[in-house]
Amino acid sequence: MRTIGLLSMGVLLLPAGVTTAQGPAESYQPVATMAQLMVDIIHPASNDILLVINRGGPKDDTEWAALRRNAMTLAESGNLLMMRGRVREGDWIKDAKLLVDVGTAAYKAGQAKDANTLAGLTERVDAACVTCHKQYRPNVHPRTP
Ligand code: HEC
Repeated sequence: MRTIGLLSMGVLLLPAGVTTAQGPAESYQPVATMAQLMVDIIHPASNDILLVINRGGPKDDTEWAALRRNAMTLAESGNLLMMRGRVREGDWIKDAKLLVDVGTAAYKAGQAKDANTLAGLTERVDAACVTCHKQYRPNVHPRTP
């Protein structure tokens, strides 16, 4: 009887927890610093994409799989940049979306094994980084008066 009592309590409590104003999405916890996100996740992913393009595109299934992995990493990294605690004022979200968009485009090219479309994304990959850095890394891109 006791076990059943606890069980029914749990059943009653669960929906209450789910419907709080904050919701379960608020339970995430950023781990990486901004610099770690750049150095350990975003830069390696974009670098590998640019390298394989420079070598003429992925040449077998393993390389296409690596390309898709890097492309998805880049795309979802854009979302990581939008998390509370990381997001900043101004154009930040717009800039981070450039990563989501170019990563998604590269992923689609990877699914289609379309090396030409992939090669055409080089400048967009670069622009996704520079656009944000110009605004939010003033030590690297000093504002010219
Ligand atoms: C939405 C903004 C944003 C985007 C998009 C972005 N970055 Fe960054 N990046 C930053 C900020 C802010 C810093 C400064 C981090 C710090 O020093 O705390 C930074 C720093 C860096 C650093 C230096 C980290 C260090 O050691 O201090 C590298 C490398 C880097 N970014 C690579 C990239 C690459 C490659 C891309 C594109 C594929 C990219 N970033 C896209 C905002 C962005």
